[in-house]
Amino acid sequence: MSKTILLTGGAGFIGSHTYVELMAAGYEVVIIDDFSNAHRDVPDRLEVITGGKVTCYEGDVLDGSLLDRIFAEHDIAAAVHFAARKAVGESTEIPLEYMQANIAGLYSLLAAMKRAGVFTLVFSSSCTVYGDPDSLPVTEEAPRSFSHPYGFTKLTCEQSLEQIALHDPRWAFGILRYFNPAGAHATGLIGEDPNDIPNNLMPYISKVATGELERLGVFGNDYPTPDGTGVRDYIHVTDLAQGHVLSLKALLDSGDSHTVNLGTGRGYSVLDMLQAYERACGFDLPHEILPRRPGDIAEVYGDPSKAQDVLGFRAQLGLDDMCASSWNWISRRKNT
Ligand code: WQD
Repeated sequence: MSKTILLTGGAGFIGSHTYVELMAAGYEVVIIDDFSNAHRDVPDRLEVITGGKVTCYEGDVLDGSLLDRIFAEHDIAAAVHFAARKAVGESTEIPLEYMQANIAGLYSLLAAMKRAGVFTLVFSSSCTVYGDPDSLPVTEEAPRSFSHPYGFTKLTCEQSLEQIALHDPRWAFGILRYFNPAGAHATGLIGEDPNDIPNNLMPYISKVATGELERLGVFGNDYPTPDGTGVRDYIHVTDLAQGHVLSLKALLDSGDSHTVNLGTGRGYSVLDMLQAYERACGFDLPHEILPRRPGDIAEVYGDPSKAQDVLGFRAQLGLDDMCASSWNWISRRKNT
């Protein structure tokens, strides 16, 4: 049986780390990426890490004829769908573009897979589908909702996959709900490198550490949390990537769909992360308390037990690993 996997958005932050773990697990991997949120030197860096040639098609998953060409040129066994837009704030400014990229993009991929007779897909979802959960840790059975167009697109995609699998048993889906990915590859050759001002906490802190940004704004310290700042379940991107390998293996072995949280089960505050980063870089990082960011919730962290039961997945790396690997990556990146 073919072991070739198609990664859409495979040059991106999570996609590139998943590429490395899939290759290490013995798969063949093909990437499609439009490089709208990935640097063009990522495939070259992946070649250094994996020691082999990278097959990468530049293009958009909305281009059905390009997808048909990829499926014709490679014996694809399954796909992992990362290609999507993921900034909450931006989604409120351009909701149509988010629906086009995230929902129409998924449908375009599914239609091409069906034309090619490929019915196994791992889908990149998000804890954002839980909204502001009533109880913690949040389990996969918690009610789903959305409070912004980005969350709407992720929930719509999940429900679309559920309906397809319910009415067409040929399909097998692994729906992976990420909590907060952070960190970088141990080699320091790939990591999170947003093109513009970061949205997320760790890339923002890392740019303060390199001096590219002046200070960290802490969005609120009056939340009902231990130190008043927001609490999230940060998961090392390498752990997250390995969760994708286990999801694919389970789908290909059993043909049964699954939906699981990919988190650590442990929440850390903004100040926890800041102090961990200071330990990693070895100096204090300037910061100031700012008002809360609209739409933020106080606290969320996941119950990781279903991923362990269904996939045998358990995160191995902690906050200090995430910060040390990020600092190694960003300080190398700045010097290249
Ligand atoms: C984390 C904490 C902020 C920046 C979002 C998406 C989610 C997923 C991950 C895609 C919060 C605080 C942040 C800063 C700060 N993305 N913060 N200063 O909002 O939990 O999740 O990204 O799947 O779907 O919703 O992540 O990193 O933006 O914020 O104080 O400059 O850090 O208030 O408490 P978030 P984040």
